[in-house]
Amino acid sequence: MLRRPMPGLIERYRQYLPFAEGDPVVSLEEGGTPLVPAPRLSARVGAEVFLKLEGANPTGSFKDRGMTTAVSAALREGAEAVICASTGNTAASLAAYAARAGIQGVVLVPEGKIALGKLAQALIYGAKVVSINGNFDAGLRLVRAIADEHPISLVNSVNEFRIEGQKTASFELLEQMDGAIDALCIPVGNAGNITAYWRGFSERGVHPRMRGFQAAGAAPLVSGKPVENPETVASAIRIGNPARWEQAMEAMTASGGAVNAVTDEQILDAYRFLAREEGVFCEPASAASVAGLLAFGAGGAERIACVLTGNGLKDPDTALSQVDGVIACDAELEAIVSAVL
Ligand code: F0G
Repeated sequence: MLRRPMPGLIERYRQYLPFAEGDPVVSLEEGGTPLVPAPRLSARVGAEVFLKLEGANPTGSFKDRGMTTAVSAALREGAEAVICASTGNTAASLAAYAARAGIQGVVLVPEGKIALGKLAQALIYGAKVVSINGNFDAGLRLVRAIADEHPISLVNSVNEFRIEGQKTASFELLEQMDGAIDALCIPVGNAGNITAYWRGFSERGVHPRMRGFQAAGAAPLVSGKPVENPETVASAIRIGNPARWEQAMEAMTASGGAVNAVTDEQILDAYRFLAREEGVFCEPASAASVAGLLAFGAGGAERIACVLTGNGLKDPDTALSQVDGVIACDAELEAIVSAVL
């Protein structure tokens, strides 16, 4: 059989994951994402900064790391359907892995608050997409209740297998940075990902400062209380009551890190900066990590990784709202030359 140069996460990290040889594996060969240096960002903050491009995963976000494990485990348990509430990326990822597994995917999304690309993904992969007139937090309460009563497997990050899969990003970072990492900057929504990174680092005995960033209009961890009506341009992290609240706070406290808020304006500045100055197009929520680093500084760290959680193509509407637009021109040489040169 052809040896696969880059197998999926379960095969690559099986000894650190709760999967035995012979267990079913549902994979799209996720993980193994690039870590690119960010020279202009580095110059701005006075530290060596790297960008972990999680948008390079099969469905364009880090969620695939936790979905290969959660859906594989669900299949092992005999599940015939999986469900989640989502601001979009978990929905897209669930839909893809459910399709791959040959089981039904069901997703609840907040009406009108999910980026276009994510909605298209969830639908084309064949999930049942239910739009509710409530936010993510309301959706999560509903799917928890549904999964308690019915034979459908819940794969939000309250599912331990999600955290197990997502911790592999830390393993990769340590390989890519040769173990030398002083701080991690990461956006925080439902707080599963920061929990997973911390678990991964801790399992390797490495303890970089965990610096979480929330959008100012959806910053319950910063204010210390749930936010009833979270609001932000970064729709992926429009969450008012994170499920992994305590664990996220524990990660930041134990590592000497912190949680801070960044405004939508700071997020969009970082979003445009990354695209124009580094050639990296991420989604607005992902840019919160870089917005936070720019706003609060390197804090003495010499080598920093910023997690860019999702691909910019997920949210074309926000991208188009941030640019001047196209140059309309007659199909004539002279006209084009004078328009652009
Ligand atoms: N960045 C992106 C692009 C996300 O989609 C999410 C979460 C986060 C960051 C925050 O990660 O929740 O683990 O703290 N998206 C979830 C979803 C909520 O439904 O797609 P977290």
